[in-house]
Amino acid sequence: MNEKRKLVLVGTGFVGMSMAYSFLNTGGIDELVLIDVNHDKAVGEAMDLQHGLPYARGKMTIKAGGYEECKDASIVVITAGVTMKEGESRLDIAVKDTMILKSVTENIMKSGFDGIIVVASNPVDSMTYVAQKVSGLPKERVIGSGTILDTARLRYLMSEYLDVSSSNIHAYIMGEHGDSSFVPWTNAYVGCKNLLDILDEQGKDLSDLHEIYTQVQQAGYEIIKRKRSTYYGIGLSLNRLVHAILDDENVILTISAYQEGEYGQEGLYIGVPAIINRNGIREIVKLELNEVDQAKFDASCETLRSINTGTID
Ligand code: 2OP
Repeated sequence: MNEKRKLVLVGTGFVGMSMAYSFLNTGGIDELVLIDVNHDKAVGEAMDLQHGLPYARGKMTIKAGGYEECKDASIVVITAGVTMKEGESRLDIAVKDTMILKSVTENIMKSGFDGIIVVASNPVDSMTYVAQKVSGLPKERVIGSGTILDTARLRYLMSEYLDVSSSNIHAYIMGEHGDSSFVPWTNAYVGCKNLLDILDEQGKDLSDLHEIYTQVQQAGYEIIKRKRSTYYGIGLSLNRLVHAILDDENVILTISAYQEGEYGQEGLYIGVPAIINRNGIREIVKLELNEVDQAKFDASCETLRSINTGTID
């Protein structure tokens, strides 16, 4: 991968700009280029960010540009797409976003881009599949944000519930970034201790866990109902993923990865824990799922397979 830490963002809506803004606070990139169908919007956003640079962490170049900027980029993050309205599910916007993703990916590849694509547009698992197919890049170099945000929501809520730092909560949301996601609870740990043992010792009710999952599953809808869209959580999640790649972290994150039999399924992108480094997805972490969780994973795959994305050829 290119040594220069150049990041291109396609889509300067709330999600993209929350990620962009987060880099002024965390540093970690040398160059940020903003692309949008509305070029003027990208120019305005770039100016606004540039004016924060004197107070930002680290030095970086920020500008608006065209797709030719992807040529020497390490990572292109795609957040372009239509916004879910109240009452819509992520799956409802699949056909429109497929058309957008197809054209965006073609434009990225025309530049000669040879880095890593990160997709956040919804429905993210299907859109990542579209980006991989259209780009022809190796599957490990096209990564969807998957359940990275859902897992953050889970860790936050469990941290509140157990009064233990979220950094010690090792639990994942797997499956579709959407209604058919699930938590393999028997694989959840607090520090090195199994979560179910802890609940048992503390006399806590297992139904509390189901309530926590429901809150995670409904979080996107609850936020959209109140403020029309969600963006800070996903913005920071994307920042985390970009850092994991650029810093060659070999960290485990739940992202949307192409399945090649790791969980008994093939031929689709879906949220699983995976080791992320400078090459993209180094490997999918295989958990021992019990029968119930395997059935949930299979059902989530079926949900994703049934999504009508329109044609991508
Ligand atoms: C979220 O979960 C809507 O996918 C978006 O915040």
